[in-house]
Amino acid sequence: MKALIINCSPVRTGATATIAGIIDSEISTRYETESVSIDDFSFSFCKGCRSCHSTARCVMEDGSTELMSKIDLADIIICVSPSYWADIPGQFKAFIDRCTPWCNTHEPHATVRSGKKGYAVALRTGPNMPECERLIGSIEHFYGHLEIECCGHLGLTSIEYKEDVSPRAQEIRDFCSSI
Ligand SMILES: Cc1cc2nc3c(=O)[nH]c(=O)nc-3n(C[C@H](O)[C@H](O)[C@H](O)COP(=O)(O)O)c2cc1C
Repeated sequence: MKALIINCSPVRTGATATIAGIIDSEISTRYETESVSIDDFSFSFCKGCRSCHSTARCVMEDGSTELMSKIDLADIIICVSPSYWADIPGQFKAFIDRCTPWCNTHEPHATVRSGKKGYAVALRTGPNMPECERLIGSIEHFYGHLEIECCGHLGLTSIEYKEDVSPRAQEIRDFCSSI
C-alpha cells in the first residue's frame, strides 16, 4: 500500500517538513511512502471558468495535474499543514481550487481511485486548538469532495520552528500508530 505525505507549507525545511518527516519514517515500515512538498509543484490559480463543470477537465495542464496523479496512485493521503493567518497556506489552497475537476458536486467530474484513506495534521504557533481544527476542517472538506475517507487528524499547537517539533515527537508517533 502506498502512502503519500504532503508538506502543505511553502517552507521545505521548516516545522511542517519535520513533522512530515517523522510521519514518513514512522509509517515507512508498514507502507511504501512518498513525501512531497507543495512547493515541488508549479501551478496557476484556478480561473473560476467552470469549464470543468461540463468537461471534468481543467483548461490548464501544469504541476497540479502531477500532484493529483500522485494522490490518485496513493492509498493513504496525509496532508500536513501549518496555519497561515488561521487557515491553510495560500499555495495549498490554490492547489485545492485546481482540484475542482475532481469535485463531486458537479457531473461529470473526474474521480480518483476509490478506497483511499485521508489523514489531516495541522500545526500552529498559537496555543489554542480551535484554529488547528479549522485547518483540519479545510483538509477534510477537500477529502470529502474527492470521496477520500477521513480517518484521523492531529492538531499541534505551540509550534513555530522545527526545533519545537522534537519535544512533540512521541505525540506524532502515537498518532501514526492509528494510520
Ligand atoms: C505567513 C505566516 C502566517 C502565520 N499565521 C499564523 C496564524 O495565524 N496562527 C498561528 O498560530 N501561527 C501562524 N503562523 C505560524 C506557523 O503556523 C508556524 O510557524 C508553523 O510552524 C510554520 O511552519 P513552516 O515553517 O513549516 O511553514 C504563521 C506563519 C507564517 C509564515
